[in-house]
Amino acid sequence: MASMGVTAAVTEEQVAFYRENGFVQVDDVISPATVAALRQALDATYRDDAGGIHTSARDSAYAKVLDQRVNVWRDHPVVREHVFDRRLAEMARRLAGVRAVRLWHDQALYKQPGDSKPTPWHQDLPYWPMAEPGALSLWLALDDVDEHNGAMSFVPGSRRVGSLPGINLVHPEDIFAMVPGGALAGVKPVLCRLRAGSCTFHDGRTFHAAGANHTAAPRRAMVTIYMPEGTTFNDKGHIVTDPLGLRPGQALAGEAFPILAEA
Ligand code: SIN
Ligand code: NI
Repeated sequence: MASMGVTAAVTEEQVAFYRENGFVQVDDVISPATVAALRQALDATYRDDAGGIHTSARDSAYAKVLDQRVNVWRDHPVVREHVFDRRLAEMARRLAGVRAVRLWHDQALYKQPGDSKPTPWHQDLPYWPMAEPGALSLWLALDDVDEHNGAMSFVPGSRRVGSLPGINLVHPEDIFAMVPGGALAGVKPVLCRLRAGSCTFHDGRTFHAAGANHTAAPRRAMVTIYMPEGTTFNDKGHIVTDPLGLRPGQALAGEAFPILAEA
C-alpha cells in the first residue's frame, strides 16, 4: 500500500515524543487513493448497515457521540488491507517498544452531522478486557478534522496515572476529578488537527476527547487497535471477547487477534 509521498516509518523523535507524552501525531500515513477507497468502503457499510458489528442503534444517545462499527475488516477487503498494513503496524510496534503486536480490533468511528455530541474525556483501557497495559490506537482521519468537526485532543503524560474507572460516554463523569492527588492539574491538552490520511497514535491510558461535529458532513475516522503480544484476558465483558469463551489469564491470541507486526 505504500506509495510516493506516504510516511514510511515513525522517526526517533516521534518514538521519543510518544514515550514521553503517550500520544503522537504522524502526518500523511496513507495516500489520497487509499483514503478514497476507505471512505467508499465505510460509507457503503454504514449506508447498507452491513459490515462489522454496529454497536449502537442509529438513533441512540450513544450514536450521537459515536456511530461505531467494530471489526469491519472481517467483512470488507479494503478495510482488511488497511488494518493488516504491516507498515502501519510496525509504527505501532516501535512506538510501544515491543517484539510483536496483535490486532485487538478495528473500529469505524463516525460523528454524524446533526445533534452531534462531543466525545468526553476518557481512557480506553478500562473498557478492554486486558490484564496488562500497552495497547494503543491508530486513529486515522478520513476527513480533515479540526475543532469544528471532532478532532481529538490528548493530555500529555496522562497515561502515567494508570487505569481509572471507565467513563460513561453519554453521561460522563469528570475523569480529572478521579486522578489521585490532582496530578494532571495545569497540564494543557493538545488538539491534533489532521488532514485526511494523517493519524494519531495514543496509549490506552492516555486521556483523550473530541469535540462535537458542527458541520453538515460526517466526521469519518478509522481506528486500528494494536496490543503487545502476550496481553492476557482479564474476564471483563466485551463485545469482541464475549463469544470466545476465554479463561482469565489466557493470552489474547490466535485467529481472532492476528499478529500484524513482529521484529
Ligand atoms: C472519537 O473518535 O471521537 C473518539 C475516539 C476514541 O475515543 O478513541
Ligand atoms: Ni477512546
